[in-house]
Amino acid sequence: MESPAQETLPDKVRAWKPKAGIVLGSGLGGFVDSMEVFAEVDYTQLQGVPASGVTGHAGRLVYGSVGGVDLVAAQGRAHLYEGCSPGEVTAVVGVMAAMGTELIVLTNAAGALNEDFTTGNWMQISDHLNLTGNSPLLGKGHFVDMSSVYSPRLRGQFSKAARAEGITLHEGVYAGVLGPQYETPAEVRMLKLLGADAVGMSTVLEAIQARALGLEVVGFSCLTNPAAGMGDSRLDHEEVLKVGERGAGDMVKLLHSVLGNPG
Ligand code: HPA
Repeated sequence: MESPAQETLPDKVRAWKPKAGIVLGSGLGGFVDSMEVFAEVDYTQLQGVPASGVTGHAGRLVYGSVGGVDLVAAQGRAHLYEGCSPGEVTAVVGVMAAMGTELIVLTNAAGALNEDFTTGNWMQISDHLNLTGNSPLLGKGHFVDMSSVYSPRLRGQFSKAARAEGITLHEGVYAGVLGPQYETPAEVRMLKLLGADAVGMSTVLEAIQARALGLEVVGFSCLTNPAAGMGDSRLDHEEVLKVGERGAGDMVKLLHSVLGNPG
């Protein structure tokens, strides 16, 4: 599948040559504070990318470097639950591909389904269940191989970096659901039976689009809460954002360690 043409990018963005793209999930927008920022552009300047309306998502693409490696970070993403189409949800991935990125890092906030996983820690996504009932490839006549979506090469590098940094990095299956309501306890039991370790409302469509464009993909879930019915408290978006912000430091360290030392 072809990525959108370079010509679709605004003039000032055409000069950007990031090696990797990172999509920042709820509460993780602060990652850009750890970048040496060269330039930024609002989503409103980018063809097909809707401005995101959910709290915790800024709607801006930031170009800069981390440990000497040029990156582009998407601060804020569009979701199906906002009423965005699969094409709108994944447009930012197309923009990153048009810039020539070779790999894409997808981050999100998620509820923990696996009882062995601890809230506040990160889970590296080994595979996903796309339960949104949707695909960015509808109508495209494109049959993408999904047998190895999340790069074994990069997963190995991130696991190694986590061990070296003393950071807990769980690994497991991410279930991507439509939202915006959180799950019922019955749905949580179903997701566990299906083999999911974490549940969230993003990432799967972007991963599909990135693979369709031939990009290498890694994904990480910040486990912001036990899934519904598994903890003592009610689920709350503000709490999800707060825990995401606290977890951001570990992810910044891992990203610096792996992307700053490619190979
Ligand atoms: N469910 C779905 N999405 C989420 C959750 C959850 O428990 N936590 C953060 N995003």
